[in-house]
Amino acid sequence: MKRNIGGWVMVGLVAVCCGMMGSCKKETKSGGGAPPPRQAQKIVVGFSQIGAESGWRTANTESIKGEAAKRGIDLQFSDAQSKQENQIKAIRSFIAQDVDVIAFSPVVTTGWQEVLQEAKQAGIPVILSDRAVDVTDDSLYVTFIGSDFIEEGRLAANWVVKATGGKANIAELVGTPGSAPANDRATGFREVMAKYPEMKIIKTQSGDFTRTKGKEVMEAFLKSPEGKQINLLYAHNDDMAIGAIQAMEAAGVKPGVDIKIVSIDGVKGAFEAMVAGKLNCTVECNPLIGPALFDAVEKLMKGETLPKRTVIEESVYEQSQAAEAIKTRAY
Ligand code: AHR
Repeated sequence: MKRNIGGWVMVGLVAVCCGMMGSCKKETKSGGGAPPPRQAQKIVVGFSQIGAESGWRTANTESIKGEAAKRGIDLQFSDAQSKQENQIKAIRSFIAQDVDVIAFSPVVTTGWQEVLQEAKQAGIPVILSDRAVDVTDDSLYVTFIGSDFIEEGRLAANWVVKATGGKANIAELVGTPGSAPANDRATGFREVMAKYPEMKIIKTQSGDFTRTKGKEVMEAFLKSPEGKQINLLYAHNDDMAIGAIQAMEAAGVKPGVDIKIVSIDGVKGAFEAMVAGKLNCTVECNPLIGPALFDAVEKLMKGETLPKRTVIEESVYEQSQAAEAIKTRAY
């Protein structure tokens, strides 16, 4: 289906001119015959996903694929295996295919200016899904749909204040360096901490949002000279917290008791750990972005204007709520 939005009027004009001159791209593709009837054309969306680093990411991919299939959208899905260069390649290939809309979840915030400029020049609107980019020109994307990661960091810190009275020796498992959630969850947490001088981060390191790295880094934290002082773990996602729980158990430390744990995402594994008394709190980060993403795509195709930012609603779950909440957990 061809784009039909205000900002892309030039594309339409060029298409009309091309048509009049007998050199329209669509005609060339179909061997010079008439283009197929409009209702038979599917919307084509190119989506570049980060990878499969966490339970959250898997649920996000399922939400996007499932929603596209439900709406009859032709989804060109590409898995970047956590590499920015693969995402840039995928976006360039979507531009070459002349898809209707490009959407992507950027692994890191920087380094997108050039490829987004190319998409803009090609007249293809870009939607940011889940994570933000750091660009000087915000006309390089149409809208950003995702969570407020700074607020998630604040919510995690508020829970620590409530659970410890504002006095804790904290170990922090940080997400992927340079990613929006790692940057923002650190910022929001520290913003609250600044009011509580006895809340101290004594160890901090990236666990790259994965269970394996979370376990490895927690092992090293526990073996370090400060290891015995740690009484609270703040993990930027549930997968790293679950890995850290394994490391604590192997070291004879009781997770959730000797070391209290707060993490972010709210995946089923976190609820299971809370029911088992091994995790104390999870701040929800909702991965079910598919419906909002394709609502935005369909509105774009109708020429509607989108808000620049859509924030996904989320909650905080403590251990005492886990047994009930797990019964209806969708991911
Ligand atoms: O961008 C969202 C974050 O990415 C999730 O919190 C984390 O689990 C994922 O890898």
